[in-house]
Parts: sequence; structure tokens; C-alpha cells
Amino acid sequence: MNTQVNVDRRLTVATTALLLIMVAFCFLFLPAVVQAAGAQGRERAGKEIVAAVCATCHTTGVDGAPKIGDSKAWAKLTSQSLTSLAEAALKGVRRMPPHGGNPDLTDTEISRAIAYMVNQSGGDWIEPVSKFESALERGGAEVVQTYCARCHQDGTAGAPRIGDRTAWLPRVKQGFELLVRSAIKGHGAMPSRGDATNLTDAEIRAAIAYMVNADSATKRR
Ligand code: HEC
Ligand code: HEC
Repeated sequence: MNTQVNVDRRLTVATTALLLIMVAFCFLFLPAVVQAAGAQGRERAGKEIVAAVCATCHTTGVDGAPKIGDSKAWAKLTSQSLTSLAEAALKGVRRMPPHGGNPDLTDTEISRAIAYMVNQSGGDWIEPVSKFESALERGGAEVVQTYCARCHQDGTAGAPRIGDRTAWLPRVKQGFELLVRSAIKGHGAMPSRGDATNLTDAEIRAAIAYMVNADSATKRR
């Protein structure tokens, strides 16, 4: 009987110790995980990456780097997919250093930088969205309040206003999917993805549906 109690007690002590160790581990490693996610959440747009890293060689064309704006050089490259160009840029190719010489860049940032250079050279590519952000998609109302309202609330620079059906309907008539493409690529004074590179296609779609359908106080009559 006594030994049984002792065994039980020993087991309880062992279990408690194990639990404490596990909790301690969580506190040790959680901040690192959160920090990594935070760093990934701040993936930059192609324009920024190119200015900070790629422009050194790709504006001058040093060592045969395809020059930004040289549509012939880039047209040849764009017969490949973005994935395969990104692979080359990540690994390095001849005089082009791996990651453009900056190991901190994520795969998405490299791909965005390539898409940006292609688009500055007569191309028509779309910068990919962050893999890390797309796990948590938001609804239309939230996306609009956070990213689109600063122009679409008051109609800045001719932006169709939220809930203003007279302004939206002629655009919707072209086809909803065309509107989505247009918002992803940018259209006149409307920046690509409303300047929020990390918005997913589904979030853009939800935001547009919200703006078209919202019964808003800003509605013009
Ligand atoms: C130190 C100079 C240098 C930097 C910095 C640099 N590149 Fe390059 N890059 C080159 C050179 C040189 C080539 C041509 C390589 C060849 O074909 O011989 C090249 C080629 C490429 C190609 C074509 C690869 C292929 O398959 O032919 C891509 C894509 C590319 N660079 C993307 C980038 C991106 C994105 C960045 C910034 C993140 C960057 N580069 C930064 C020098 C550079
Ligand atoms: C910096 C200001 C600005 C921001 C931010 C912005 N827009 Fe726009 N948007 C505009 C302007 C200006 C137009 C009108 C452009 C035109 O048709 O010439 C426009 C037009 C549009 C159109 C119509 C495009 C077409 O082809 O008719 C859609 C769809 C759209 N925006 C969606 C969005 C979404 C979704 C967001 C938020 C994720 C957003 N916009 C954020 C300024 C902005």
C-alpha cells in the first residue's frame, strides 16, 4: 500500500517536472517563432527590393545583367516562368550572385523583384502574394477599412466611392473578374492591390464586392 502511494507520488512529481520543462521550452522558443513570422509578414514589394538590392547591377547592366527597361533582354527571359527565373535568381546564375547577394530576401521578395523588373521592361506580370499572410484571409469590410477606404471613401483622384452604385455599375458591367484583375494590376491612379502587396486575390475580390454593394453614407444620389 505504502509503496503504491510512493510510486504515485513519484509519478506526480515526474509529470509536474515534465510539464514545467515543456512550459519553459514554449517560453524559450515561442518568441523566436513569433519573431520569424513577424519578419516574414513584412515581406517588401518588388520596387523596394529592386531599389535596395538589384538595381546596383540591373540598372547599369554590369557583367551582362539584363538592364531594367531593356525590353528585348527581358522578353527573352520571360519565355521562362516566374518560378524558374526565381529559382535561377535564388541559386545564382553565372555572374549573378545567389539571392542577388542578399541572403535575407525571401523567395517571395525575389519573385516580386523579378516581376517588378519585368514590368519596368515592357512586361505584364503580377507580383506574388506572401505565403505567410495568405493563411489568414480577411473579409471585405475589414480589407476595405484597412486598405481601400483612404481613397475610396472620399473618391480621392477619381476613385469610385464605397457604395456609390452609379460609379460602380458601369465598371461592374465589364465583368467582375476584369475588375478584380484591374485592381490586382493597378489601373490609372489606382495602385496595384491598393498598395497592399500582401492582400490575396480572394481578399481583393471580397473588398470589391463590399465596395460595390455597401449601403454607405457616402453614397451619392
Ligand atoms: C552583383 C550584381 C547583381 C545583383 C546585385 C543582382 N543581379 Fe541579377 N544578374 C546579374 C548578372 C550579371 C546577370 C546575368 C547572368 C548571366 O546570364 O550571365 C543577372 C541575371 C539575372 C536574372 C536572369 C537569370 C537567368 O535565368 O538568366 C534574374 C531573374 C535576376 N538577375 C534577378 C535579380 C534579382 C531579383 C536581384 C535582386 C534581388 C538581382 N538579380 C541582383 C547580376 C546581379
Ligand atoms: C491610393 C488610392 C487608392 C487606394 C489605396 C485604392 N484605390 Fe482603388 N482606385 C483608386 C482610383 C483613383 C481608382 C480609379 C482609377 C481609374 O479607373 O482610372 C480606383 C479604381 C478601383 C477599381 C476599379 C478599376 C476599374 O478597372 O474600373 C477597383 C476594382 C478598385 N479600385 C479596388 C480597390 C481595392 C480593392 C482597394 C483596396 C485593397 C483599393 N482599390 C485601394 C484609388 C485607390
